[in-house]
Amino acid sequence: MGSYRIAVLPGDGIGNEVTRGAIEILKTIETRFGHQFAFEFGLIGGAAIDQKGTPLPDETLAICRESDAVLLGAVGGPKWDRNPAHLRPEKGLLQIRKEMNLFANLRPVKFYDSLTDSSPLKKEVIQGVDLLIVRELTGGLYFGKPSGRIVENGEEKAVDTLLYKKEEIQRIVKTAFELARKRKKKVTSVDKANVLESSRMWREITEEIAQDFPDVTLEHMLVDNAAMQLIRSPQQFDVIVTENMFGDILSDEASMLTGSLGMLPSASLSASGPSLYEPVHGSAPDIAGQNKANPIAAILSAAMMLRLSFGLAKEADAVEKAVQQVLAAGLRTADIAQKGHRAVSTEEMVNEIKAVILDNEAIS
Ligand code: NAD
Ligand code: IPM
Ligand code: MN
Repeated sequence: MGSYRIAVLPGDGIGNEVTRGAIEILKTIETRFGHQFAFEFGLIGGAAIDQKGTPLPDETLAICRESDAVLLGAVGGPKWDRNPAHLRPEKGLLQIRKEMNLFANLRPVKFYDSLTDSSPLKKEVIQGVDLLIVRELTGGLYFGKPSGRIVENGEEKAVDTLLYKKEEIQRIVKTAFELARKRKKKVTSVDKANVLESSRMWREITEEIAQDFPDVTLEHMLVDNAAMQLIRSPQQFDVIVTENMFGDILSDEASMLTGSLGMLPSASLSASGPSLYEPVHGSAPDIAGQNKANPIAAILSAAMMLRLSFGLAKEADAVEKAVQQVLAAGLRTADIAQKGHRAVSTEEMVNEIKAVILDNEAIS
């Protein structure tokens, strides 16, 4: 039996609904397996701007730093979209990633047999897909300086900079190779080396790191081609490693191989402290507060926490198996519901997954 401190940052919109669901599941695991989870809540994003005047209050960061792992919902919404850069909810998320050194964002994309008809793609294309996007999370286009508005010769301009230090590329690429070694032993490094100098350096460093992993195959792919290949023949991929913004875009695209963005979990691993777990999706203002959101991305993120931060593999398996089981039984939130299926609410989905974990004889 273990005792763990979990910082919970629900954020905005459906972030609240899906983290509530993930906590329910963690509490079920606590009961079923006799662990102790202490949840401590913090404000982030729009909720923090409204209550504290800043998207990442110091006390939130303190709670996270003292935790064993962080569970985050999502941030953002139309209410804050016209705010200046430093008062945007998204700024809070970028800050926490930087402050906690969360450099490696792992976004697994797995095909579920029972969801074949939820994806707009053909069964032959998506069958057996099991890939992992390793997205660099604390550098690249999101963080390079200069960034902002400037006026030159009376002309207004905006600038963002794609900048990487050598070490930043080394550590993310090394992480990708280490992960590939435990999987199908293939790394696809995605870049834009035909245009960008940062990508040419990325390629050089990737080649160097590959020398230490002779058992892993490395291929390079230009990002525009990668976007196409993900839809044409996604089974070719094992581990994809890429720059911050490329990874952001490709992972939303890849989510449709599973049927919905609401299915995709993620882990943001820290170079120095606790890691953070969050669904890939955002705050979904279009369905927020309606008890409609798919909680599975958040629940699978919690499973990643159990496995990667706490070393609780059996417990993580129990959550993942329960998710598979309810999907196989035909339970669907609206985003994955096909014709003829009654869509269940967020709460119904959570309750069913919970019941399966509690009932499952195979789990012990
Ligand atoms: P989004 O991911 O919030 O939503 C995109 C579409 O997917 C919407 O139609 C939404 O209803 C649907 N969707 C997303 N998650 C779902 C779920 N769990 N169940 C069912 N449907 C789901 O992206 P967006 O609409 O472009 O952005 C909305 C806000 O969220 C913006 O403010 C953006 O900055 C923010 N955002 C935050 C994060 C994060 O916190 N990690 C990620 C992406 C976007
Ligand atoms: C994500 C989101 C964030 C990102 C935004 C909200 C800053 O889209 O986590 O994928 O672009 O990283
Ligand atoms: Mn995104």
